Amino acid sequence: MQHNEKFLVTSALPYANGPLHIGHIAGAYLPADIFVRYHRLKGSDVVYICGCDEHGVAITIRAEQEGVSPQAIIDRFHELNKTSFERFGVSFDNYSRTSLPVHHETAQEFFRDIHAKGILKTKQEEQFFDEDANMFLPDRYVEGTCPRCGFADARGDQCEKCGSDLNQTELLNPRSKITGKTPVLRKTSHWYFPLGEFQDRLKAYLDQRPNWKENVRNYCYGWIKQGLQERAITRDLSWGIPVPVDGAEGKVIYVWFEAVLGYISATKEWARQQGQPDRWQDYWQNEKCKLIHFIGKDNIVFHAVMFPAFLMAKGGYALPHDVPANEFLNLEGQKISTSRDFAIWVDDYLDRFPADPMRYCLTAIAPETKDADFSWKDFQTRNNSELVGILGNFVNRSMTFVAKHFDSQVPEPTEPDDLDLWMLARLEEAPALVAEAIERYEMRLALRRMMDLARHANKYFNDKEPWRTIKTDRARCGMTLNICIQVSKTLAILMAPFLPFSAEKLWNLLNLEGDVHRQDWALAARQTLPPGHKLNQPEILFKLIDDKVIAAELERLHKGTSGGDGGQNSQKSEGKANLISFDEFKSVDLRIAKVLTAERVPKTDKLLRLEVEVGDEKRQIVAGMAEHLAPENLPGKSIVIVANLQPAKIRGLESQGMVLAAETDGGELSLLTVDKEIASGAKVR
Ligand code: 2FM
Ligand code: ZN
Repeated sequence: MQHNEKFLVTSALPYANGPLHIGHIAGAYLPADIFVRYHRLKGSDVVYICGCDEHGVAITIRAEQEGVSPQAIIDRFHELNKTSFERFGVSFDNYSRTSLPVHHETAQEFFRDIHAKGILKTKQEEQFFDEDANMFLPDRYVEGTCPRCGFADARGDQCEKCGSDLNQTELLNPRSKITGKTPVLRKTSHWYFPLGEFQDRLKAYLDQRPNWKENVRNYCYGWIKQGLQERAITRDLSWGIPVPVDGAEGKVIYVWFEAVLGYISATKEWARQQGQPDRWQDYWQNEKCKLIHFIGKDNIVFHAVMFPAFLMAKGGYALPHDVPANEFLNLEGQKISTSRDFAIWVDDYLDRFPADPMRYCLTAIAPETKDADFSWKDFQTRNNSELVGILGNFVNRSMTFVAKHFDSQVPEPTEPDDLDLWMLARLEEAPALVAEAIERYEMRLALRRMMDLARHANKYFNDKEPWRTIKTDRARCGMTLNICIQVSKTLAILMAPFLPFSAEKLWNLLNLEGDVHRQDWALAARQTLPPGHKLNQPEILFKLIDDKVIAAELERLHKGTSGGDGGQNSQKSEGKANLISFDEFKSVDLRIAKVLTAERVPKTDKLLRLEVEVGDEKRQIVAGMAEHLAPENLPGKSIVIVANLQPAKIRGLESQGMVLAAETDGGELSLLTVDKEIASGAKVR
């Protein structure tokens, strides 16, 4: 094969702080995978790079919430996500991680070099500090109300509701993510990248890329028009890549400065794996190589403005050729929410379904120019009427016919008639039509064009009526089926970028040599199957999905989800429906209370009235425990109460909290107490 074009393709490095959902897949991974698989078939020299983004506040917040180390978090989600990508057929050449030494070295080299050139500025600034936690609160460690749209849970770096990029200090009612307290301002010094100084060069760079997607161009020009500001590229955090210059003890490189460099480190790692450690330069330091970054729209500024500026500052690197960002995917008409567990998790989906129907559906509805909506019903329809009804049906009816009437052997061709010529023309034009759409990143259109070949082929099969000609004109019938089997072979190649697993299956059913993923796209429509070629027993490619299955998925999705709004990139508790998020748990205020007095509520069997001390507050609690606990044993005990339960009137008495006790199936009760003296009011977590 001739290597005419060279590509380095990347998909956004997902944070290793949670599992992947279909919104991630539809945005940055599936379109890239289709692009790459197609280019491999075309014979391009293409390397596809990704990996986990393992630094920054996204990781440490999750670690704190779970009470484990950041290392434990990244190890868990690196493995989980790597496996999910493999199972979903996303064909990275390397899935790396930013905690590796090769990445730390690369990021530090960039920082050091840019610093040595005198490009960076240092500045003292006031930043939010949590006095109780005794730490600075960079980025998402502060939450508050969005100054643009009023959303109450905007993060310090971005509002997920309106998509605005924010500066922490703009937030109204800022609060610490760690203690919930209002942070104070404290002085600290940081290193800044002077983006403004690159403004003209960035504008010229964008002007030279008129073919970029409209949404990406508009966004970038919008930024430039506002005037580019300097950006701090260091943080006061303990988790991350140490800032490699004097006077920066205790500071790390800002995650968005180094994450994009992760693409370079991951390519270096790949080159070493190939036994050609310098080969990464062929891609990154070669003007002939096209760097293509597939991302979701929330990452545009980092890839299309900042990353090019970082590369310009460093010098010697090719600049991104294209940044085909996608819009967001919604789910059943709502925003995907990781914190509410309102999402379809990839690993979970794959436990019950094959990858290809989801790949098909997500490509068919891809959020290329505007937000799209996934619904299970639509998924079912596309699977049943399109994959099963059109593609699967055509292949199956052709192969079954040949098995039955031609002993599973490709029949002899004859002189083509008009219908044959029409079908052959559709066949011959298909590869170029699909290719043209993929090369413009229009995967929806590309998929439709691939399916059009199957649609045309079904029509051809119907119009030729082989079930009739087999009785009247066996040679003509043979020609029809010869063409149908050639079309099936072409379909196997053309569907390979979209439906890699089904393409392999079809390739095997057709009993073809080699690997469907290593064919030549340019020759895909050649009628290469010789008469007499023996086919394997037909098997169906796609299975019908039943209403009951879809109903169960909808129930799963809606179970255990309530209130709040998380958004595309925030936390998720644990993926499975009945679990609550840490935030939900945190909303229950558990406290130590000391029992002052306890007595039976007159004229009741079950109720006790307790007077308890919670810090410097006294409360009355009415509890249904009289059958199991003697009131005289309670005074002096330290117990656990829910302190933020709405007060309730029980037998005319106000109960200001709830006492926690363990209860066996037999109804035996035991109060929760503490294992040593502790002041009342202490928080239980
Ligand atoms: O938004 C995110 O999930 C980031 N982890 C994407 C990083 S892309 C690149 F810079 F590595
Ligand atoms: Zn907002």
